[in-house]
Amino acid sequence: MEMLSRPPIVYDPPQAPPDPDLVERVLQLKVERNAIVLAHNYQVGEVQDVADVIGDSLGLAQAAARTDADVILFCGVRFMAETAAILNPTKTVLMPDLKAGCSLADMITADELRAWKALHPGAVVVSYINTTADVKAESDYICTSTNALKVIGAIPREREILFLPDKYLGTYLQQKSGRSMHVWPGYCPTHVSIRSEEIEALKFEHPAARFLMHPECGCMTSCMGLADAVLSTEGMVRYVRDSPETEFIIGTETGILHKMRKENPGKMLYPAAAEAVCPHMKVNSLEKVLWSLEDLQPRVTVDPETARRARKAIDRMLELA
Ligand code: 13P
Repeated sequence: MEMLSRPPIVYDPPQAPPDPDLVERVLQLKVERNAIVLAHNYQVGEVQDVADVIGDSLGLAQAAARTDADVILFCGVRFMAETAAILNPTKTVLMPDLKAGCSLADMITADELRAWKALHPGAVVVSYINTTADVKAESDYICTSTNALKVIGAIPREREILFLPDKYLGTYLQQKSGRSMHVWPGYCPTHVSIRSEEIEALKFEHPAARFLMHPECGCMTSCMGLADAVLSTEGMVRYVRDSPETEFIIGTETGILHKMRKENPGKMLYPAAAEAVCPHMKVNSLEKVLWSLEDLQPRVTVDPETARRARKAIDRMLELA
């Protein structure tokens, strides 16, 4: 196979260690505020390192559903914190920075979904958790990358399905379930930067490496055949931890490498695309975590009627999980 040319990948960008006083103050405030810090696998290392739970969308929604803390500081993106707020209407839900949005979630509005539903009366609406609270309120089921196949499997075969907003996850679900669905044409710009040419070149350089792929990858059709497993972010973390193999190509946002490297110092982890960095996830920082716990701001709230309707769809998912 001919070697493909590509820019060098920096596997371990150096990071200055966080100020220990800052870390200490955050840990103190967590106790004083009876706060739990939930961090997504894509958060920067210094934020992950002060979190009580680090996980994928499903794991963090489950952690939010069962916590007895008074304050939930959600270090991720807005739809994740909104989900926590929907599950905890009486708690204080904070984000380090409200500007941490999600380009994929913004690719369908509640008005667009209502218009789509009107074209398919009686169809079951399955929405990926990467959606706004307004879109969740118009949905029958929510799913994440962990449980999407299970959710689809719970819907009677004769029912028409509208799946949104990620077309690559939708493609994967159709292939795996053998069901045809109407799929909204949304995508995650970060996962689109992961390309099959890069994967092939990495596999050529590291023939023993296992390729783990997130179902949002833009190369879904061409990369599926290259993947040893298609997994959620936490599924990848578990796979690397439990596998006897020692080399892995990681097909998702690069923030996940922080936790993987900490857990597996002896294993070689290669990002499938060094440029797969979500700008929204990286808006949060340790300083903003501190300010948020100090001021109990900025708060994430969801209109109660929207939350009531969205919760039904989220609860259906949590019951299946
Ligand atoms: P996970 O649920 O697999 O963590 O995915 C979250 C996400 O937003 C991927 O872009």
